[in-house]
Amino acid sequence: MSIKNCQIIDLPKITDSRGNLSFIEGNVHVPFDIKRVYYLYDVPGGAERGGHAHIKLQQLIIAISGSFDIILKDGFETKRYHMNRSYYGLHIPSMIWRELDNFSSGSVCLVLASTVYEESDYIRDYRQFLLKVGESKQ
Ligand code: TYD
Repeated sequence: MSIKNCQIIDLPKITDSRGNLSFIEGNVHVPFDIKRVYYLYDVPGGAERGGHAHIKLQQLIIAISGSFDIILKDGFETKRYHMNRSYYGLHIPSMIWRELDNFSSGSVCLVLASTVYEESDYIRDYRQFLLKVGESKQ
């Protein structure tokens, strides 16, 4: 998979003087069924999260509050996204290495996932990721 397949999705935004509202429907605003939702919060300054790829899992990552960076690697190219809008989601297909850092104080990272949690779906070793990416190109 190439990082060219990773895209910012501009989510619906209903603006209102009482406060804005955004929503996400599986297979409508994200190209998968949403099987799991999780979120990162109370992230201490300087912390780094992620540091893995997934064999099957796809995700949409949103900076629901505050900001952070997502670094994507496909084994050939690297791209850094600064996430700081509640109505932008970054779609990450399978077999993309991701790292998250530069969390602002009080930020919340919401993740919509296409599968339930399965440790066997993780690739946590970057060299192993590069090997798998190399195999798929042959
Ligand atoms: P991990 O996915 O490695 O965190 P991150 O990529 O955000 O740094 O998960 C951290 C721990 O939480 C790990 O022990 C697995 C556990 N976990 C679950 O039990 N269920 C889940 O849905 C997730 C995302 C993680």
